[in-house]
Amino acid sequence: MSLGRREFLQKSAAAALTVPPPRAGQAADSRVTILPDEPIGIISPNLHGQFTEHIGGVIYDGVWVGESSAVPNIGGIRKDLVEGLRKLNVPVVRWPGGCFADSYDWRDGIGPRSKRPRRTNFWANHPQMQKVPDGPQKYEPNQFGTDEFMRFCRLIGAQPYVAANVRSLTPIDLDHWVAYCNSPKGMTSLADARAGNGHAEPYGVLYWGVGNESWGCGGNFTPLEYASEYRRFITWIPEYGLDLRLIASGPNGGDFAWTRGFFEALRAKGPDQLDDLWGWALHYYCGTAGKGQAIDFTVQEWYELLKKANHMEPLIHQHWAVMGEEDTEHKVKLVVDEWGTWHEPGTEIAPAFLFGQVPTMRDALVSALTLDIFHRNADKVGMANVAQLINNLNCLFLAHENHFVVTPNFYVFEMYKAHQGGQSLRLLVDAPPVSYGVDTGTNATLWGLAGSASLNEKRLVLTMVNPNAADERHTEIAVRGASIKTCRVRTLANADIHAHNSFAEPNAVEPKNEDTTPHGNLFWSFRPASVTRMEMDLA
Ligand code: AHR
Repeated sequence: MSLGRREFLQKSAAAALTVPPPRAGQAADSRVTILPDEPIGIISPNLHGQFTEHIGGVIYDGVWVGESSAVPNIGGIRKDLVEGLRKLNVPVVRWPGGCFADSYDWRDGIGPRSKRPRRTNFWANHPQMQKVPDGPQKYEPNQFGTDEFMRFCRLIGAQPYVAANVRSLTPIDLDHWVAYCNSPKGMTSLADARAGNGHAEPYGVLYWGVGNESWGCGGNFTPLEYASEYRRFITWIPEYGLDLRLIASGPNGGDFAWTRGFFEALRAKGPDQLDDLWGWALHYYCGTAGKGQAIDFTVQEWYELLKKANHMEPLIHQHWAVMGEEDTEHKVKLVVDEWGTWHEPGTEIAPAFLFGQVPTMRDALVSALTLDIFHRNADKVGMANVAQLINNLNCLFLAHENHFVVTPNFYVFEMYKAHQGGQSLRLLVDAPPVSYGVDTGTNATLWGLAGSASLNEKRLVLTMVNPNAADERHTEIAVRGASIKTCRVRTLANADIHAHNSFAEPNAVEPKNEDTTPHGNLFWSFRPASVTRMEMDLA
């Protein structure tokens, strides 16, 4: 039986006024129990990190418009973007790639902008780029370099995460980049060069990626070869008093041989070899390759993509287990520094915006369920960076010239920031699974509700995804050993699963706030195809 949401709420409220609170399970088809006595780990704010690459419309026209642009900017950086990001508590931003990173010489991007060299962008030869006019997306003007990136990070209050070039530069180039960023004022020629470029104080960059996708665009290495490159690049890297957090290029999705091969090869030289490895970068995209673009899909394709996104959780568990074969104390964390949806081309808002797509409610649910997975694995995942911030795959913003809009993904990050720094708690979810693909003979199922919970003193945050495209989930919510005093609810939902924001309709998708007063346990109807955040004060 499925009650209308209003009817359900009225019944619950009326019952609470006249008779004792509803018993467990009454009028509910689902149950969520949060277990404060089963902590998982602190939710690092870094799980909500971003990724920016010199690709398509991410940097040029996205982040960087230039100081003389008619587009409102802060020293060349798009002002609307800075203001949007300030609402999210962005912890960390990865840059300059992606595949671009292993083609990038950081020296090209420092000094007076008018004197910087123009280079062929890594992506210029991509078949899609052949069809577009020449411009900064094909011929890299180096207007946005290290100092601009650091300024961007400071403007939004984020830490920089720099990806170094292993394929086409050498270890001394990395040493020098670290020196440019981190060596003390006046102590090295590179510190002087930094001061000459307007930044006397060191930037203190903590996170360094040693290559990107080194199994592919980043050098096409075998795990053994890459382990030896990794050692060569990081041995005696200058630290300038910081404890650098070095991140090695990890697997593509389920490539366990890459993880095992690298860990075995690194550890073969001695157990201490793992001491200089902070993170192991996993990349996982859930795509619709060959199955249509971002805004045009069937209900079955909606479920198929959510199911693919859900694959992130076994990937984390399985790579973690393989890493544990060598790293028995689990000192090395997983860093999912590229994740998100990847659709067929066709919705990019400008021809040169390679991999640009328009995120809908479907992408928002993928983002939410993925962040929930990271929270539930807060003991294993040390950082995650969604690909990519603006005008790209699973982006939070779309921008072109004077136009700017936030996507449904933006709201997911805005709602989920309430989890940052909280203690992740185990939760039990009992909800009828969704069956789909009956008409097409696929006959598959997906869970009926999933989410994550975190506790910060007496404030409990619960986020839940209801993937069911048609049905509400009438849910009883309990906190084991505690009672809920107040509850504020924020819901991102839309009657149309294809709904998205555009320059013409910037507010087509946005969250709504509601409050509810619990009577004993809390009852809530999660709307179809929705993401919900509940902030509760415990008694
Ligand atoms: O995010 C787009 C590309 O996807 C990145 O450059 C690369 O690392 C990955 O294959």
